[in-house]
Amino acid sequence: MLLSAVGLALVAVTSTVAAAIQPITLSLMQNPHRFQGAQNRPFYMEKRHFLSENSSIATIGVERLYNYRTAYLIEVGVGTPAQKFNLVLDTGSPSLWVPSTDCNPVECTAGRFDVSASTSARDMGVPLQSKYAMGAANGNYFQETITLTNLTVFNQTIGLVNETFGIIPTVPHEDSFDGVIGFSFPATRLAERYDLDIPLVFNLANNQLIPEPIFSVYLNSLFEHGYSGEIMLGGIDESKFTGSLTYAPVVNYTITDKETGQLFEEYLLWTLAGTGIKTSTGFNLDFARGEGFTLDTGSTFSIAPRNVTEQIVESITGIDANQLYNETYGLYQIDCGLASSEVTIEFTIATALESKSSNPLHLPVSLREMLIPADAPTPEEASECMFGITPAEQLEDSETRYILGDTFLRSFYTVYDMARRQVGIAPAVFIQSSIESSGN
Ligand SMILES: *[C@@H]1O[C@H](CO)[C@@H](O)[C@H](O)[C@H]1NC(C)=O
Ligand SMILES: *[C@@H]1O[C@H](CO)[C@@H](O)[C@H](O)[C@H]1NC(C)=O
Ligand SMILES: *[C@@H]1O[C@H](CO)[C@@H](O)[C@H](O)[C@H]1NC(C)=O
Ligand SMILES: *[C@@H]1O[C@H](CO)[C@@H](O)[C@H](O)[C@H]1NC(C)=O
Ligand SMILES: *[C@@H]1O[C@H](CO)[C@@H](O)[C@H](O)[C@H]1NC(C)=O
Ligand SMILES: *[C@@H]1O[C@H](CO)[C@@H](O)[C@H](O)[C@H]1NC(C)=O
Ligand SMILES: *[C@@H]1O[C@H](CO)[C@@H](O)[C@H](O)[C@H]1NC(C)=O
Repeated sequence: MLLSAVGLALVAVTSTVAAAIQPITLSLMQNPHRFQGAQNRPFYMEKRHFLSENSSIATIGVERLYNYRTAYLIEVGVGTPAQKFNLVLDTGSPSLWVPSTDCNPVECTAGRFDVSASTSARDMGVPLQSKYAMGAANGNYFQETITLTNLTVFNQTIGLVNETFGIIPTVPHEDSFDGVIGFSFPATRLAERYDLDIPLVFNLANNQLIPEPIFSVYLNSLFEHGYSGEIMLGGIDESKFTGSLTYAPVVNYTITDKETGQLFEEYLLWTLAGTGIKTSTGFNLDFARGEGFTLDTGSTFSIAPRNVTEQIVESITGIDANQLYNETYGLYQIDCGLASSEVTIEFTIATALESKSSNPLHLPVSLREMLIPADAPTPEEASECMFGITPAEQLEDSETRYILGDTFLRSFYTVYDMARRQVGIAPAVFIQSSIESSGN
């Protein structure tokens, strides 16, 4: 979860590359409505969408952390010959890991990597411990060959996980996920031996396998199904947004070196300087000192401190937030009818770090995209809708207070610039799926 001077320098070197290399576009399939309740009870199960044999990325509804989770998955080949895995696209962590056959299938319920069947695996003799807000994954670092569509990356550091807690859905189903692929900055100084662990997309940039050290994410509307989104590695898809991209700088984290007690600054997550949040219904919060807003594709919901979330919910609904809070799910249940209102929730982000008032970027999200229907595909048909911002107790182990997850990110096209440490943002064009799923 962190960027080192090493990663930074390597990336900076790759900012000019040969023109012949093309960006890699991978399509995304959206299937957001397959939610699981607390007892793994499917709230609503619509027509299943499966990965087609040619798709590289899919979004699939899965149970994670606090139920009602959806995730965006990338299909990745690991080893030689390639064994296929569906990995969660996570801009909020650095490591790529898959479960190994050493992992108990009760914990690692979906795919498991058989290292003995790969001719390219190299054990680095270093243990891996990945901690997430929602759980942990432990195992060992390996170097392996990774295949993404037609692209092969050699000697990518990956984790082969032999134990996980709280991450992989415990009840297997065919559209579950296997592991995680991290797109945050390399976490070189955060944990022991993370210096080995350069995230795949940084590795692609360092080895000049993509034309520019950037990647661009388009999730598409919550209500688009089939192959409706995409991630582009090394390029920008101009057809997926309106207007022009505005760039906002990524902020540093201050880290304490555990051995020396020394403080140092590192890029860590794709965190921008938030300057405020307001709703069209009258809630208006201006941060006196700025707050980190972390862009996290690996988080289905956005997350804010409880008192802030409560006030937003009350401003939108006019009802005491405690009455709307569902403790079992850690979510606010709000009237599905509000989806047809014109209500917006606007996040503002600084475009320069020196002065928070300098031309902040206003990023409104319509309530329709912030309301997740729990028991039907659309709010019109649903009887229960979950508010897309959840209170921050969920992040016990984390100092991050604001996370802009998928409920925010779907409304924007985002370009992650690894060399200049900035994120370009523009309103997403919500297009209709161009390819229908062949699932049954
Ligand atoms: C996958 O791609 C191959 C080669 O382009 C094509 O022949 C095949 O029909 C495709 N399969 C599907 C399910 O689209
Ligand atoms: C997982 O790997 C770690 C690090 O090598 C090791 O200490 C542990 O015993 C392994 N656990 C299992 C269940 O294989
Ligand atoms: C992968 O295929 C795409 C589309 O055919 C092409 O533009 C790109 O150059 C290929 N990449 C590699 C590394 O071969
Ligand atoms: C991968 O690493 C091994 C061991 O360091 C090295 O021998 C090999 O040349 C590397 N392969 C590539 C393609 O870089
Ligand atoms: C962030 O930290 C890096 C590494 O210490 C430093 O080079 C950079 O100037 C810092 N950036 C900001 C905006 O503070
Ligand atoms: C939320 O609570 C924190 C800590 O108690 C406080 O500093 C902050 O001002 C509160 N924010 C709002 C919007 O009430
Ligand atoms: C939470 O929602 C579930 C599903 O609708 C419901 O069964 C449960 O009673 C709710 N719990 C609370 C505390 O409202």
